[in-house]
Amino acid sequence: MSIESPFKSNILDNQVALVTGGSSGIGLEICRQLGKHGCSVAMMGRRAEILTLAEKMLTDEGIRALSVQGDVRKPEDCIRAIKSTVEKFGGLNCLINGAAGNFLCAAENLSPNGFKTVLDIDTQGTFNMCRSAFSELRKSSNANIINITATFHYAAMWYQLHVCTAKAAIDALTRSLALEWGEYGIRVNGIAPGPIADTAGFSKLGGSLMDTDSSNNPLLETIPLKRIGTKWDIAMSVLYLCSSAGQNITGTILVNDGGNWLHKPQILDRETVQSFSRSIEKKSRQEGIATKSKL
Ligand code: COA
Repeated sequence: MSIESPFKSNILDNQVALVTGGSSGIGLEICRQLGKHGCSVAMMGRRAEILTLAEKMLTDEGIRALSVQGDVRKPEDCIRAIKSTVEKFGGLNCLINGAAGNFLCAAENLSPNGFKTVLDIDTQGTFNMCRSAFSELRKSSNANIINITATFHYAAMWYQLHVCTAKAAIDALTRSLALEWGEYGIRVNGIAPGPIADTAGFSKLGGSLMDTDSSNNPLLETIPLKRIGTKWDIAMSVLYLCSSAGQNITGTILVNDGGNWLHKPQILDRETVQSFSRSIEKKSRQEGIATKSKL
């Protein structure tokens, strides 16, 4: 469910964004919200039919939209997507790298090509796009790149070895580019979504097996804010970083997950910890007094 944006509808007037993976899921909502706030949006993806539908949907909503079919693994496709965007909208000042591949697979069953495929799409694809966009972004007085990653690699995640590796590398790329391209006026940040309802990632990673509305949903127990994130939540973070509110922010990964990655099982409940902790203090005080009296 999306609620009204807290941002003014003209915060991105005269801006142009290119969003990879922009024709569905989180990417499409990012395109919609960018468009609703004044930005022209180009979407890049592999599936021509889905792209055509997405372009029509956004255009019908009054958004200046363009779709470009291409694969971020192919540098020539990346260059063509940038060129088409600039030809249509006259420039480019915002690149959102949302294209990603994922599937659950135990490490011992993951083939070398399965591992490579995810790194190629996520990590190499992000580099390919950043590299291809550089000369256009450099021309802009307000340029920024946002790389969509994840939180799995902050610790570790079952059956996500390939994704953890790819996303860790993207976060490293984000910080290095922020360091090197700051002097060209290009900000580079990341957004790390947690579980986001109604997305391919949520379905693929098992989230859809759970009832998102149920109060005893085991997934909700791992989220301090007790809510499953929405595509809108991620799009709002994008608006913040793209707008002038984000003008001093670069090299940051904005976690948007309701606190999910911080989750630890609660070993003691609040009542028990209160009495347990007091009893330990009391005991150590008594032992201290007994020791002193022996001295
Ligand atoms: N379990 C184990 N291995 C798998 C797999 C699975 N579920 N799905 C694919 N692979 C392996 C394949 O077997 C192949 O390896 P192999 O040659 O050793 O057999 C390798 O990954 C490449 O698969 P292929 O289907 O040829 O790649 P693709 O480029 O067509 O698709 C994927 C890439 C696999 C990542 C596909 O899921 C995809 O396109 N995803 C995009 C959408 C998406 O995942 N969104 C969620 C984002 S969170």
